[in-house]
Amino acid sequence: MLTTATTSTAARLPSGERGAFARDLVAGLGSRPRTIAAKYFYDAEGSALFERICRTPEYYPARVETRILAEHAREMAGMIGADADLVEFGAGSLEKIRLLLGGMDAASASLRYVPVDISRDHLAGAAAALQAIHPALRIVPVAADFTQPFALPDGRRRVGFFPGSTLGNFHGAEARALLRRFAGLLRGGGLLLGIDLVKDPAMLHAAYNDAGGVTAAFNLNLLARANRELGADFDLRAFHHYACYQPMTRRVEMHLVSAKAQRVTVGGRRFAFAEGDAIHTENSYKYSIEAVRELASASGFRPAACWTDPERLFSVHWLETL
Ligand code: AVJ
Repeated sequence: MLTTATTSTAARLPSGERGAFARDLVAGLGSRPRTIAAKYFYDAEGSALFERICRTPEYYPARVETRILAEHAREMAGMIGADADLVEFGAGSLEKIRLLLGGMDAASASLRYVPVDISRDHLAGAAAALQAIHPALRIVPVAADFTQPFALPDGRRRVGFFPGSTLGNFHGAEARALLRRFAGLLRGGGLLLGIDLVKDPAMLHAAYNDAGGVTAAFNLNLLARANRELGADFDLRAFHHYACYQPMTRRVEMHLVSAKAQRVTVGGRRFAFAEGDAIHTENSYKYSIEAVRELASASGFRPAACWTDPERLFSVHWLETL
């Protein structure tokens, strides 16, 4: 792709994947409220920190979804069917696909697994690890940002896998647009979607404020990444992790709050923070089962099946393309 540097700042910013982070961070720090897309959490460090979050006692979504997938893998595998490309959006550690493969035996021989992930380094390692466990499985890793157009291998029926409540990072209009694009990619198939449910705010609060501080480290890694990749000079001790559930919008918000008045340089630009100024780093929307079905119906899918745990903490949906 050809990019045109129109300002002196753009000329100083690096190109490619780094360029996108630099551009979006500079733009995000200059806007009010200050924001940055949650996808920038996931460099190799951030992907590893997210895996550590999944092992904290407070972060129930990973554990509960794992249980749901393991328990119903056979039934889900039946809906996915054989002779398909199984495309996972934001695949991360490639651990959840193992549960589905566990329910597939013979079918997995004709299945091609296409993990899509924004973290190229992390994806390569995870794909190699999965290949070692499933030597016969055809794996076609695609290093791409799934929120942008990207190329998929051609020619077969496609089925999507979008677990981990990643969809929760997108607000209503974005979520609809994303699902509509997926529906277009998954012609003649369906989407297996894992999404977190509304619940006691105290439980949500704990999940995003683990006592071990792993979520705080994950949030702050965004600034550490800017220092590593862009030569920014964020003082990691002068920003604090803050996460809270907002019942009116049904989302957990994460912020990085400046602990003092300070200046930071990013991409050759200086940004001033007063004490208490915040960067909004993530939204994590929580749904009712009914709201997921409505969203799917408005986005090119027909809700066909839903699995949940006895406490109704998390849900997995089979959505057929129209
Ligand atoms: C991977 C986006 C689903 O929102 O719960 C975990 C990321 N952020 N703890 C989520 C996350 C803070 C996670 N998703």
